[in-house]
Amino acid sequence: MVHLGPKKPQARKGSMADVPRELMDEIHQLEDMFTADSETLRKVVKHFIDELNKGLTKKGGNIPMIPGWVMEFPTGKESGNYLAIDLGGTNLRVVLVKLSGKHTFDTTQSKYKLPHDMRTTKHQEELWSFIADSLKDFMVEQELLNTKDTLPLGFTFSYPASQNKINEGILQRWTKGFDIPNVEGHDVVPLLQNEISKRELPIEIVALINDTVGTLVASYYTDPETKMGVIFGTGVNGAFYDVVSDIEKLEGKLADDIPNDSPMAINCEYGSFDNEHLVLPRTKYDVIVDEQSPRPGQQAFEKMTSGYYLGELLRLVLVELNEKGLMLKGQDLTKLKQPYIMDTSYPARIEDDPFENLEDTDDIFQKDFGVKTTLPERKLIRRLCELIGTRAARLAVCGIAAICQKRGYKTGHIAADGSVYNKYPGFKEAAAKGLRDIYGWTGDASNDPIIIVPAEDGSGAGAAVIAALSEKRIAEGKSLGIIGA
Ligand code: GLC
Repeated sequence: MVHLGPKKPQARKGSMADVPRELMDEIHQLEDMFTADSETLRKVVKHFIDELNKGLTKKGGNIPMIPGWVMEFPTGKESGNYLAIDLGGTNLRVVLVKLSGKHTFDTTQSKYKLPHDMRTTKHQEELWSFIADSLKDFMVEQELLNTKDTLPLGFTFSYPASQNKINEGILQRWTKGFDIPNVEGHDVVPLLQNEISKRELPIEIVALINDTVGTLVASYYTDPETKMGVIFGTGVNGAFYDVVSDIEKLEGKLADDIPNDSPMAINCEYGSFDNEHLVLPRTKYDVIVDEQSPRPGQQAFEKMTSGYYLGELLRLVLVELNEKGLMLKGQDLTKLKQPYIMDTSYPARIEDDPFENLEDTDDIFQKDFGVKTTLPERKLIRRLCELIGTRAARLAVCGIAAICQKRGYKTGHIAADGSVYNKYPGFKEAAAKGLRDIYGWTGDASNDPIIIVPAEDGSGAGAAVIAALSEKRIAEGKSLGIIGA
């Protein structure tokens, strides 16, 4: 059967003819280790569905399945001016969003670089002060300080945070390399609101939003075929609209004005899928990544699929091959031995190297790590990057298939965002191919019933729309969360 689905062109691999036998053997072993075939993906999806369901029960499971308290579908008529902030891994983004009320919006934004070491500062106040100071700078730049009205703010906080209501987020645990003491177990909204108030800024945090929920809502605002918001970035996660009556753990907790058939956005936090290591095809390198992370045993799925870890996986393999005397022989690997020295831009750039002799890759290793590579070594490195990137894409879409099968979605758009989705070469194609393999779709890929599409700006427009929906509920005197929250 002819496969017309998108796939990586074979030519990218280049000829392996000049690769010596011992390296070729290693390449084959790596291929075996890092390939997630269709059967494995289907097995993963099956277990994933069970785990998603478990997360919705009173007893709970590994996947948090956090109700996000967005209980409406956006109509596109939401209007007004909103502030939105997004605390990412390297930047804080501040956005002023003007919702027109006619399915469109305008945004003005600034980015503020997180000071070095902020991710692991010992003093949590520094983080909230930095955000509040950046907000103040933004208000000054945009001449917003003199407005009489308080500006509502949607806070995109993309870590697992429990919410008993929309304007609350109790951090369960840091992910993606953040590790700041005394925040886990606390509601981050008052922590930030206090710093805002100290600076007398006319801002009120009206909603705390996960990036996936923002992506879902922003994309739904412009495309009602949207079934999920997903992030393939530093972390991996997805959100969808469930129905209140299907969320067992909310039973008996809801105020009377929230009907049983109300929609409810769920932030799955499925980066924690398979923390028990039952189905994911882990390699010894995945085990090391986990053991050496600040939170061993957590985010098992994310550690195999997200941008935070792809470069590290590559580095671990290369260091091991060197230690086995197979490559980069007799060279000083001090730099390359530093954990996390390779962020995802490294495998991405290596995969993008357009030259037959992989000249860019040669440059990268010489300039950044002070190591010389032979052409066969570079071929191994490039192949390894393809394997790590492709495996990430194929496993990452298991979350999509699991939600679609759980909710019975046969068609629809999956709105995707994140650095890996947007920038990692071949990721989109490999993700689409992964879904096709799970479902066994053949024929023209453009007819695939479920497709992954680029999302609208979740942490800008999405956060603003959610803030607008939240304000509306407040104005109508409706409850924002569980009874008494
Ligand atoms: C991590 C976070 C999650 C976020 C995802 C993508 O998995 O825990 O909240 O949605 O990264 O940014």
